[in-house]
Amino acid sequence: MRILSPGDRPKIGIFGLGRGQNFLRNAINNGFDVVALCDTDQKKLTLAKTRAPSAAEYTSFDEFIKHDMDAVVLVNYFHEHAPYAIRAMEAGKHVISEVCAASTMAECVRLVRAVERTGMKYMLGENYPYMSVNIEMKKLYESGSLGRVLYSHGEYIHPSNVESTNQFTQGEFHWRGWTPRTYYLSHSLGPLMFITGSAPVTVTAASAYAPELCRGTEKHVADGIALMLCNMADGSVSTFSGAGAVAGRGNWYRIACLNGSAESVRGDNEKLVVQYNDWTCPEGSPRLSQYVPPYEKADVSEAVIKDAGHFGGDYWVMNHFKKVLWGEEQPYFDVYRAVTIASVGILGWRSVLEGGKTFAIPDFRTEEARAMYENDTASPYPGADGKADIPCCKKEYIPTPEDRATAERIWKKFGVEGNLAETDRAARH
Ligand SMILES: NC(=O)c1ccc[n+]([C@@H]2O[C@H](COP(=O)([O-])OP(=O)(O)OC[C@H]3O[C@@H](n4cnc5c(N)ncnc54)[C@H](O)[C@@H]3O)[C@@H](O)[C@H]2O)c1
Repeated sequence: MRILSPGDRPKIGIFGLGRGQNFLRNAINNGFDVVALCDTDQKKLTLAKTRAPSAAEYTSFDEFIKHDMDAVVLVNYFHEHAPYAIRAMEAGKHVISEVCAASTMAECVRLVRAVERTGMKYMLGENYPYMSVNIEMKKLYESGSLGRVLYSHGEYIHPSNVESTNQFTQGEFHWRGWTPRTYYLSHSLGPLMFITGSAPVTVTAASAYAPELCRGTEKHVADGIALMLCNMADGSVSTFSGAGAVAGRGNWYRIACLNGSAESVRGDNEKLVVQYNDWTCPEGSPRLSQYVPPYEKADVSEAVIKDAGHFGGDYWVMNHFKKVLWGEEQPYFDVYRAVTIASVGILGWRSVLEGGKTFAIPDFRTEEARAMYENDTASPYPGADGKADIPCCKKEYIPTPEDRATAERIWKKFGVEGNLAETDRAARH
């Protein structure tokens, strides 16, 4: 393992080249050397090579992980990050992992143990905290002018039409078709944890059934949204969605404190509203203000950051990872915060299935919590036999032959050719 110092160009490999194309661009803009690329899809490899012509190409993780590199970016299937993170760290590579960190409670335990055992650096690549409004809310909260937070709220809303749903959910067993509505919560909970520095200690949740959202698709997830309610470690309460499919698209964050509140504006991901009580307003500050916070200064132009994706978040998350590799910063979303987020999604889902029962969020720094969950492998994702351990929505939805026919027609339009059963198998892995 090479020890990296400030100014070194880390050698990095990217595993998964859908969303991975975006990491490729932001790695290059942050001064990484992208030396290896891996995907089973040759078209995605060819596209990535246009940006990183000297990178080695792989279609197998086993070969990719042997490549001489400092770190890997895991941008493979949503529910398969933990096993690959563990294998990468065991092969002496640092890891930045896309969300989610782990898709079962047992994987949370294995991931924490692997980070501690190997001594490699692990960071969750959660990017929404680094949107400019969220960076500004963090600064404002830490300045103390708002007072102590009592309530925070986050929403991650991403509806899609039939065409786009099928474009991004190819094959019967693709993860997007089976992800319970609480599982994809890092984009709503992550920013709240980042802004306030707190974390959930209990979760209770509910979901809304909307099978009409599945028509014309192969999706089995027939809930449209789930909401989680958490007691937080700092004594506040927090509500947030997982990825929701209600109208209209956007992200929204709010912190409501004793002296004032700050929130991003619905329909405008760059604007912030700050409001104080008449009697708690700091001298010289307006009682109510609405403004677009400036982007943070960087080594690259503001245009590069704006173009990075997710309102600057995709640039800053790789910038932070570089400093983590250099030894200048500790990962904000280290393995403990990463598995806390994953556990809230998994136990939040159990709460939905058990009528709103409250679950305690384990502290995986303790051996007691690890022992409690190390064999808890229950998963909503179908295994090799096509069966899942637990339901992925609160009432079962089986796609009809008409749903499948529409999906196949659209998959073909987006380049899925030939044997669709093979696509189904590949999506399941
Ligand atoms: N943070 C964000 O803003 C954001 C945005 C989009 C996606 N994501 C996350 O990024 C990840 C990937 O998303 P996506 O939309 O690209 O998903 P996807 O399912 O469309 O693509 C995953 C890619 O990984 C490849 N892959 C998976 N397993 C592989 C294996 N064993 N060997 C070789 N290649 C393999 C697939 O061929 C595919 O090209 C997910 O975890 C998703 O949640 C995050």
